[in-house]
Amino acid sequence: MGEKKHAFHSMCSYLGCFPPRVPRQALQALTRRGDLVLDPFCGSGTSLVEALLLERPCVGVDLNPLAVTLARAKTQPVEARDVLTRLRELASEYPGGADMESVPEAVHTFFHPRTLAQLVYVKEQLGDSPEDLFLRGALLGIMHGKFRKGGGTAYLSIDMPNTFSMSVGYVQKFVRKHGLKQPPVDVFHQLRERVVWLFRGGPIPESPRATILQGNATSLPVLLETARISQVDAVVTSPPYLGVLRYGAFNWLRLWFLGFEPIAVDRALDGTDSLDRYLSFMTSFLLSAGQVVKPSGAVALVIGDVVEYGNHLPLAERVWEEVSGVVPFDLVRIDQDNFDEKSKTTRIWGEEKKGRATPLDRVLILRRRAQRKVSSRLGSTGADSRKAKAG
Ligand SMILES: C[S@@+](CC[C@H](N)C(=O)[O-])C[C@H]1O[C@@H](n2cnc3c(N)ncnc32)[C@H](O)[C@@H]1O
Repeated sequence: MGEKKHAFHSMCSYLGCFPPRVPRQALQALTRRGDLVLDPFCGSGTSLVEALLLERPCVGVDLNPLAVTLARAKTQPVEARDVLTRLRELASEYPGGADMESVPEAVHTFFHPRTLAQLVYVKEQLGDSPEDLFLRGALLGIMHGKFRKGGGTAYLSIDMPNTFSMSVGYVQKFVRKHGLKQPPVDVFHQLRERVVWLFRGGPIPESPRATILQGNATSLPVLLETARISQVDAVVTSPPYLGVLRYGAFNWLRLWFLGFEPIAVDRALDGTDSLDRYLSFMTSFLLSAGQVVKPSGAVALVIGDVVEYGNHLPLAERVWEEVSGVVPFDLVRIDQDNFDEKSKTTRIWGEEKKGRATPLDRVLILRRRAQRKVSSRLGSTGADSRKAKAG
């Protein structure tokens, strides 16, 4: 594949996704072919795609159903030919309309009535076959976005400045202000174009395989057990940011398509909005990871620097300071990665809304202690461990 990124990485925008070269470098440095790699905050599956391309089987975990859908869509082996055949089948069986009764008013703002009817039909028809998983992921990627400069669109919606769902009020104002019209695009045609575009570099190799689980990264042993996995060789991941990233609210349209409530998604993901809560969360997560990473296995955590009360805070260092001696890992090193601003998805908010994120990311590299040192704090909750440490 060389250094060119695989087209599947561009299937759908995802908040806080990292550039593929970051997990790739970590995987190359810390793992070998055949090693089982875990990303416990897999998001849209960037590290998982890279793991498969580097011939590492992998497990992805995320609490967000949108993340799980995208990670599955990108990593289940499928052939372009079979996906296109399934799409032709859907198009040929389309009855020419759909039951629109349960479609929320807000959704109508985005789409031409004919497009929306097709979208509702496809929503109801897609199942769990690898072809359908791929089509669902590809469709999420074209639900809304910007028109081409010369006219025309690769998307299904009105001309939107970015590919995240802004609030309904904002969209309605935007539509009025710019006199926007919903384009009468054909879902089957747009989706076909997208599928062909996504497969331009070929499919993901059929082997090794990825397993994607929906669940909490603070309960890894129980979660992995459901897939009959007891240990992994390494962890490569970017944990949630310190601060509130509203994965649900910013994706309410995609979540409608998947049948989930954005508020419920945000509520489930809540918990990292203050430094104190974030550090407790990271302690619980690393205690949980300590139970599934093999002795001497490596953990690479991509953690961005933040601004806290006006001061630049190297968060990766702060996390290590907090967890050192509490979790069963030793510090290998902390690398720096000065990401290009353009490659970070937090750029979409602009200065005032990107919160505490900065362009500087660091990679905290840990190694699982070979001998489990018995600590009275090990096994307690993150918050308890932190209190014990402070005392
Ligand atoms: C920074 S994003 C990871 C993005 C990913 N690296 C990518 O390239 O798409 C962090 C992810 O953590 C997930 N998350 C937040 N809290 C979680 C938890 N307690 N357990 C599992 N996943 C969680 C969020 O849904 C989000 O997808």
